[in-house]
Amino acid sequence: MHAASTRRFWTSYQPGYRASEAPMGSREFFDEVQARRYALEPDIPEIVAFERWADRDVLEAGCGIGTDAMRFTLSGARYTGVDFSPSALALGRRRARGTDARFVEASILDLPFPDGSFDLVYSNGVIHHVPETQRAIDEFHRVLRPGGTAIVMVYHRNSLNFYVSIMVVRRLLASLLLVPGAAAAIARLTGERLEVLAGHRELLRGHGIRYLADPALFLSHNTDGPGNPLSKVYSETGVRRAFSAFADVTTQVRFLNLRAYPMGEQLERRARVRRLGRRLGWHLWIQATRP
Ligand SMILES: C[S@@+](CC[C@H](N)C(=O)[O-])C[C@H]1O[C@@H](n2cnc3c(N)ncnc32)[C@H](O)[C@@H]1O
Repeated sequence: MHAASTRRFWTSYQPGYRASEAPMGSREFFDEVQARRYALEPDIPEIVAFERWADRDVLEAGCGIGTDAMRFTLSGARYTGVDFSPSALALGRRRARGTDARFVEASILDLPFPDGSFDLVYSNGVIHHVPETQRAIDEFHRVLRPGGTAIVMVYHRNSLNFYVSIMVVRRLLASLLLVPGAAAAIARLTGERLEVLAGHRELLRGHGIRYLADPALFLSHNTDGPGNPLSKVYSETGVRRAFSAFADVTTQVRFLNLRAYPMGEQLERRARVRRLGRRLGWHLWIQATRP
């Protein structure tokens, strides 16, 4: 039941869909999605070091529309992307046309590969959306070769985005959405799209006060957009526990995420804000070795 609604959500929405007004799947669309992603999140290439994976077997678990796939492939990795969203995979395949990148429709909870198939399992912003997160991590462990690396990003609990932007600011703004004219004013103030605000308004109508009062429900709909069935947040201690079958586990925090604020994206690119993101950021990156 949960898997079906999650799959439906990720078939209608993917990171990048709101990053460009160009026709989806056009050259211009892919260029704009890519430019915005690495301008806002330079920590992705910094942490992943795409060039390090040349001539290695790389699995991306939850590859979405293949933005990072291109970086791996152009760096010379033997790349396989897995996702359960057919629409995301279609865009990924289109984008990577003419390369050797392979895209496979499957669940990250049941990876269709033999034990010890990959040198790197990379998963950016995926395992916090599945109820069985530990099972996904166990699958990553299984398909890695001994000495192989997992690089995984999950949402960070001890962050400005969770405690302030989502739990206080967004809740406050959401509580105003039934007031006539409020959605338009919030859109002007924050730059949020009207259709996204309309989605939150529908959730508020449907769930009533529970939409604001249930932290798990509100969190799920306020990370990747309204309609997302599940998002979870993790502490450093929690991920270390989840990766306890791995060796050399290190964590890093990045990306403050100021999307809820006026001029948030411009601020996000400032060096001082990036530095703050290293302490209170929304993205908790884990690197670990399969013994
Ligand atoms: C937030 S998006 C991240 C996409 C991509 N990693 C990126 O950084 O743009 C989450 C992705 O995980 C995929 N996903 C979620 N649960 C999955 C599962 N159980 N099996 C396979 N893919 C899954 C979704 O379809 C979606 O493409």
